[in-house]
Amino acid sequence: LTSVTPFVRAASLEDVPGVVGLLAVAASDYASATPKSDLERLVTMMPGTLLVAELHGAIVGVLIAAWDGWRGNMYRLAVRDESRRQGVATKLVEAGEQRLRQLGATRVTALVADSDVVAAAFWDAAGYPIDANIRRRVRSL
Ligand SMILES: CC(C)(COP(=O)(O)OP(=O)(O)OC[C@H]1O[C@@H](n2cnc3c(N)ncnc32)[C@H](O)[C@@H]1OP(=O)(O)O)[C@@H](O)C(=O)NCCC(=O)NCCS
Repeated sequence: LTSVTPFVRAASLEDVPGVVGLLAVAASDYASATPKSDLERLVTMMPGTLLVAELHGAIVGVLIAAWDGWRGNMYRLAVRDESRRQGVATKLVEAGEQRLRQLGATRVTALVADSDVVAAAFWDAAGYPIDANIRRRVRSL
């Protein structure tokens, strides 16, 4: 497939239902559910963090590119099945990197499940190797 040029922009509140719908069908099998209210809170509290990629007026991809004041973190990357392997995720990540760089980030972490081979292939290609020195430690609140 040839590369296309999706239009990447910050999501608005009106985009949230579409993003929920996209994640329902296109998110990684390893990702937890994405409640609509959480995305609405994200768009309201941290405008510019939720990015969407549009092709021919439809949302075909999504990425959370979050700045926490210290590092950049990427979550919830997903592209509609029929729009894959056309550079949409690459474009989303590049836009996320541009945003994070402007905010002051010098390092960006992508959260990827260990056994997600498709995600691993993408993040390897995007220049995000596994950090052999660091493991994630997590507590649920
Ligand atoms: C992972 C995902 C976001 C990639 O989106 P995409 O728009 O198809 O990615 P791109 O077209 O920008 O791919 C860039 C490069 O990544 C690699 N890549 C992407 N998908 C791949 C796959 N299925 N198998 C092997 N390599 C892959 C390739 O090197 C590709 O370049 P190429 O097409 O020239 O070979 C998409 O497959 C997806 O939504 N998967 C389900 C959700 C998911 O796993 N998200 C990541 C969670 S961390």
